[in-house]
Amino acid sequence: MARIPKELVDQIIHHADIVEVVGDFVSLKRKGQNMWACCPFHHEKSPSFSVAPAKGLYKCFGCGKAGGVVQFIMDIEGTSYVEALKYLAKKYGIEVQEEEKTPEQQLAQNEKDSQFIVSNWAKDHYHRLLLSTDEGQSIGLSYLRQRGLNQATIKTFELGYSLDQWDDLLKSATAAGYEQKYLEKTGLIIRREDDQGQDTGRRYDRFRGRVMFPIHNVSGRVIGFGARTLKPNDKTAKYLNSPESEIYHKSDVLYGLYQGRQAIRTEELCYLVEGYLDVLSLHQGDIRNVVASSGTSLTDGQIRLIKRYTDNVTVLYDGDAAGIRASLRGIDMLLEGGLNVRVVLFPDGDDPDSYIRKVGDQKFKEHLEGASQDFIQFKTELVSREAAQDPVKKAEAIREVLQSIAKVPDPIKRQVFLQQTSQAFGIDEQVLITEYNKLVRNASGKAAGGNSGGGSGGGTSAGSSNVSSGSAGASPTTRPAPRPMSPEEEAEALMYGASPEDLMGGGGDLQTLTREDLEPVPDVLEQCEREVVRLLLLYSAQPLAPEVAVAQYLLQQLDDTPFKTGIYADLLHLCRQELEQGRWPEVRTLIQHTRSDIRSMVAELATEKYELSPNWTTHQIHVPRELDLLQTACDNAILRLNKVNVERELAVRLEALRHPLDDDTMMEHLQTIRLLKQMDNQLASLLGTVIPRGA
Ligand code: CTP
Ligand code: MN
Repeated sequence: MARIPKELVDQIIHHADIVEVVGDFVSLKRKGQNMWACCPFHHEKSPSFSVAPAKGLYKCFGCGKAGGVVQFIMDIEGTSYVEALKYLAKKYGIEVQEEEKTPEQQLAQNEKDSQFIVSNWAKDHYHRLLLSTDEGQSIGLSYLRQRGLNQATIKTFELGYSLDQWDDLLKSATAAGYEQKYLEKTGLIIRREDDQGQDTGRRYDRFRGRVMFPIHNVSGRVIGFGARTLKPNDKTAKYLNSPESEIYHKSDVLYGLYQGRQAIRTEELCYLVEGYLDVLSLHQGDIRNVVASSGTSLTDGQIRLIKRYTDNVTVLYDGDAAGIRASLRGIDMLLEGGLNVRVVLFPDGDDPDSYIRKVGDQKFKEHLEGASQDFIQFKTELVSREAAQDPVKKAEAIREVLQSIAKVPDPIKRQVFLQQTSQAFGIDEQVLITEYNKLVRNASGKAAGGNSGGGSGGGTSAGSSNVSSGSAGASPTTRPAPRPMSPEEEAEALMYGASPEDLMGGGGDLQTLTREDLEPVPDVLEQCEREVVRLLLLYSAQPLAPEVAVAQYLLQQLDDTPFKTGIYADLLHLCRQELEQGRWPEVRTLIQHTRSDIRSMVAELATEKYELSPNWTTHQIHVPRELDLLQTACDNAILRLNKVNVERELAVRLEALRHPLDDDTMMEHLQTIRLLKQMDNQLASLLGTVIPRGA
């Protein structure tokens, strides 16, 4: 058992700064006294993972993981206490005395530790062979040199060389005291089996005569290798990679992330390339915020990994059209992951590595800036070029672009993209939006499994009523809407045991009402009211139209439904009073109010960081700011509020139907429900033009 003396443990913990340590794995943002991020231990879209610097603790309010610095490293790496301490010691340049006998038995506390240790040893071994053996120098090193890589890059990425022998690694590792078991588990050596698949007891090296690219995890531990052959016409694959192991999960790894993570965070941008050599060449050209997916198609795990550090990705692919077509799906996944995606192409036949070597660092950087294009724009151009003058193809092209837009989780960004796309294709925005909604609805109908059960397919069909602008070119592929039931039929169905929800639609196209809608999350209404008040207060005097300012507009639009949340109702009342007395309701005045809860709510609303999108500006996409989107924001807020109120009322009525009723009352309820349903659908489709549901 390895032991680290108590004093040393104290020293390590004393030096380790939790914000720095955690900050190597996620991008922390300060909010109040604590720092926040999306949790690295579970999948989430909004941050519930917090770090309290003063206490030296982290805690996730989502999954419950919590602890101090050492625990954090243990959690994120799955290593033992001792290994975590050693990691921290290394980070802070504290020397930990290791007893002379290095191998696993001495230090490893668990299986993973052993695999990390042996991989690390192998990395050192290959590196040594590259730099200080004849074969390594004359074959491996000269190859890397010829590819333009310098000493510093070779060192930073700890590149190596495996001798062209069957058992160099096996012998050296055994001599150094490492167990075969772990060499096998990490795939460094392979067991030879006979024809019957029986173990012959013989072992040999997986990597022979290749340049070795160690693959690091985020904290810099070697978890596997990529290995390139140097023989021009080798029958085996150009690259051989470590197999999956307990420490190496291909789908959760990005090559270069460890070396690039700081730059990714400070540049607030991650360049995504395909190959090892691309990463190395760019890094050497002082572009450090670069990672490679290593040839495979992108995975969710990789996307989440990027998202831990930045929201912005620029994909660098070579110019050949087939290649780009093939990667479109992967790029859609980036969008789906909530990333802002840009694309840079290179001239046909060039990849980032060959191009930077051809034109030099400076020109390359200029190219990155000059040729970088927002992905939706890029895709629009790509597909419309392909569609040329063919109207059928054009319709298909438009749908392809819309499909990508549907992946974007942020509703306001979606809207901006829709605007751009309508301009690019020269189609009326309303037509495009209608088409978009159709697409989303169909997709979600399919996703829901289309459980349009037999007798219960009633209900008015959502949205179809307001499509008057004649969606000309679009193919009318949607199913004909089912005939609405008469009230009598409805009543009959109910008597025969259909549940009221069944009557609400069941048909796949009626996605505007789901069970969730019938039981609104308690604070949805509160949120809607808050948003109205926030807009009212912050933008009261801003003009929406020549004669109407936000405050007037909102107060007019609010129907008679009173606000249900006390504080917002009071604020609304105050705003109305101000306006009636000829003043704009303003933060400046209301923050002086005698009631402290009003004061603090006003302060809260005024300082709330409403992130429309902080990143757009850095990417020179033309993006309307909140002011430009005010009309939309106001409409949205009102529509949402109304919709939630309608849904509530609907839920109440439906509930009432569950109890025995006389015929008249039942009829009356059904009438009202029908009306509410229509309203709800209308609101949904109005909302759909800005924020389609089901996102
Ligand atoms: N790759 C792989 N196995 C292969 C081929 C490719 O794992 N048989 C992965 C490697 O990670 C490689 C990436 O896919 O880096 C991109 O492949 P490619 O463009 O063919 O290789 P380059 O990295 O460009 O290498 P080189 O320039 O040396 O040909
Ligand atoms: Mn290449």
